[in-house]
Amino acid sequence: MDPLLDFTGKVAVITGAAQGFGKLLAEELAKRGAKLVISDINEAGVNKVADDIASSGADVIAMKCDVSKDASCKAMVETAIKHFGRVDIGVNNAGIAHEFKPFHEIDESIMDSQFAVNVKGVQFGMRHQIQQMLKQGQGAILNVSSMAGLGGAARGSAYSMAKHAVIGLTKTGAVEYGRDNIRINAICPFFTLTPMVTNFADEEKQKKMARGAPMNRLGEPKEIVAVMLMMLSPANTYMTGQCIAVDGGVSA
Ligand code: NAI
Repeated sequence: MDPLLDFTGKVAVITGAAQGFGKLLAEELAKRGAKLVISDINEAGVNKVADDIASSGADVIAMKCDVSKDASCKAMVETAIKHFGRVDIGVNNAGIAHEFKPFHEIDESIMDSQFAVNVKGVQFGMRHQIQQMLKQGQGAILNVSSMAGLGGAARGSAYSMAKHAVIGLTKTGAVEYGRDNIRINAICPFFTLTPMVTNFADEEKQKKMARGAPMNRLGEPKEIVAVMLMMLSPANTYMTGQCIAVDGGVSA
């Protein structure tokens, strides 16, 4: 296997792995030798993903985890330690969108749910992953932010608030734990054709959304996951605190 993408023996925990980026990343890491604890609030969904991955012979455990609950994120990390003895990779991917609405119509309940899942969910995941990585003397964390975390996102103010916060957590974590050999980075995709987008936007709407990108199309999940693999690669040992846009040129 190409050493750049050889994850043999690495133990990864991934949140939000029942579908979308989390599912595809789990499949790709398993193909490259990683052992996985994959989790989601959708227990049946993540169990199905694990069954499919396990059928190819990979070591994978599925569990329910609601990232908005600190105890749930702790249990995910403890499961990895119990079964595999360590956590080399933490991917804080679970997230929710909200209905596009003008700023002045975003109410407290939307702010609260965005903060609970998209911000606290990342901080809870990170803090338990970091506690274990400190004991090991190494680790790599990848948080999933968004283009909406790098700039304003019209009618998506609560989501944009949350994804900016993910970048704050990423950069601060990188600064605090660089000396402990824990790398912490974030990926910032533009609209990508996962269920998060395809469930609310029909083809016509997708075409309109694509006009915002110089490449004039939305992302494919595999295009985002390719960059995730590069960011987590065991060969990528000097990159930390970076928030990488994968966006068809939106930020160019
Ligand atoms: P998705 O909706 O297809 O998958 C998200 C997964 O997270 C689902 O399986 C869902 O059950 C799970 N989830 C939701 N709330 C949860 C909770 N409280 N605890 C645990 N799991 C929970 O979405 P997608 O696109 O795969 O999203 C993954 C990440 O990528 C999210 O953080 C999202 O904000 C981000 N993102 C997505 C973009 C897109 O256009 N698809 C663009 C930029 C960022």
